[in-house]
Amino acid sequence: MNLSVNMNDLSDVIESDRAHVWHHLSQHKKYETVDPMIIVEGKGIHVWDAKGNKYLDAVSGGVWTVNVGYGRESIANAVRDQLVKMNYFSNAAGSIPGALFAEKLIEKMPGMSRVYFSNSGSEANEKAYKIVRQIAHNKYDGKKHKILYRDRDYHGTTITALSSCGQHQRKDQYGPFTPGFVEVPHCSEYRSQYGPCDDYGVKAARAIEDVILAEGPDTVGAMVLEPVTAGGGVITPPEGYWETVQEICKKYDILLQIDEVVCGLGRTGKWFGYQHYGIQPDLVTMAKGVASGYAAISCTVTTEAVFEQFKADPTDPMSYFRDISTFGGCAAGPAAALENMRIIEEENLLDNVTRMGDYLVSRLNELKEKHQAIGDVRGKGLFCGAELVVDRETKEPVDESVTQAVVAECFAQGVIIGATNRSFAKLNNTLCLSPALICTKDNIDEIVTAIDNALTKVCG
Ligand SMILES: Cc1ncc(COP(=O)(O)O)c(C=O)c1O
Repeated sequence: MNLSVNMNDLSDVIESDRAHVWHHLSQHKKYETVDPMIIVEGKGIHVWDAKGNKYLDAVSGGVWTVNVGYGRESIANAVRDQLVKMNYFSNAAGSIPGALFAEKLIEKMPGMSRVYFSNSGSEANEKAYKIVRQIAHNKYDGKKHKILYRDRDYHGTTITALSSCGQHQRKDQYGPFTPGFVEVPHCSEYRSQYGPCDDYGVKAARAIEDVILAEGPDTVGAMVLEPVTAGGGVITPPEGYWETVQEICKKYDILLQIDEVVCGLGRTGKWFGYQHYGIQPDLVTMAKGVASGYAAISCTVTTEAVFEQFKADPTDPMSYFRDISTFGGCAAGPAAALENMRIIEEENLLDNVTRMGDYLVSRLNELKEKHQAIGDVRGKGLFCGAELVVDRETKEPVDESVTQAVVAECFAQGVIIGATNRSFAKLNNTLCLSPALICTKDNIDEIVTAIDNALTKVCG
């Protein structure tokens, strides 16, 4: 690779970045006095910045993406080979890696049948919303068009994806939003809306039914939910929740759309998060971990019953899915995804996630014994959260500045962790961990030690 840069002195690159790059989720004023961070290399679970500092990345590329870890030459080779043979053709036609990956993916998803390719999680969700809307028009005269989403869930950054966002601070200043999206209550047992109870999961699901009845079941076409809420605070579903949600969807003929953009491909110890709960979705979306960030790819996967409705009447010029994603035709995405999946299988990474996930939760629970600031520890596989509180009795959340100070202290020790940020008026108080699926016990010990030190420093 020749980028005409001197890897021993990247100050020019830093200046170019400072002058011209607009970073995601960033207030830029600080870069007038502080250098922007430029990540230049990755290997396994570690990354290096432009100044040569090494970090253990406990969030897989910042946003739970690089599931198989950095520096995977076999993925790079698969992408290269594909690009020199055939880089792109509109997905109105097929591609070799597209067909092969779709088949492998469907093998992992009993009950599902069709894969629609695009580029980002937001886009995958928007495709699903368009499918729901078109079914509403074709089958229900447009009436059954509403889509329910849940408080604290996130489904993407575009205006319509934000219309289905249960993280209210993220939406501020970006309205007006797309009509037809209706919020249902969250299912965080730690912050139970019904006080302490044995059947919280069933109650939280029944609260969704109340919304359906208030809106009118004949107006509700679908419900979009994360299997485990990610950026909203790593909320694992309570006992009894998913069974009841599935029953409610069946009862009112509502399509169940599961957003696997974070959980998808191994993060929780199964291929998909929903597979822990015995449910059968109608639509599944995925992106980040599908190719671990080696190429852009997202998928909207449907059942054959959903797909059938888009080919029922070939004489009707409007009866097919009139949607396109230019870069959904890039062959690099499925080529990377195929190799990514092969690695997960060959290296038994799902087993590793289950074992290491249990270890991570047990280590975090030890920290909870030591630090009063940890109010709750939650997790499924290598996908864990620790919620910080001022007081365990009242559960008053710490201020976001405290959460961010803990993140910064870990960073100073060479460990990158994440946290809920600028998502809620009050609940930006959960530390988030999602290391690569190759994570070892030693890596976990290093992460937990960094958090331990940081909590001692910040919270006393
Ligand atoms: C659960 C969930 N869905 C969808 C998205 C949107 O994905 P993207 O940023 O690729 O558009 C995200 C991104 O963080 C996510 O966490």
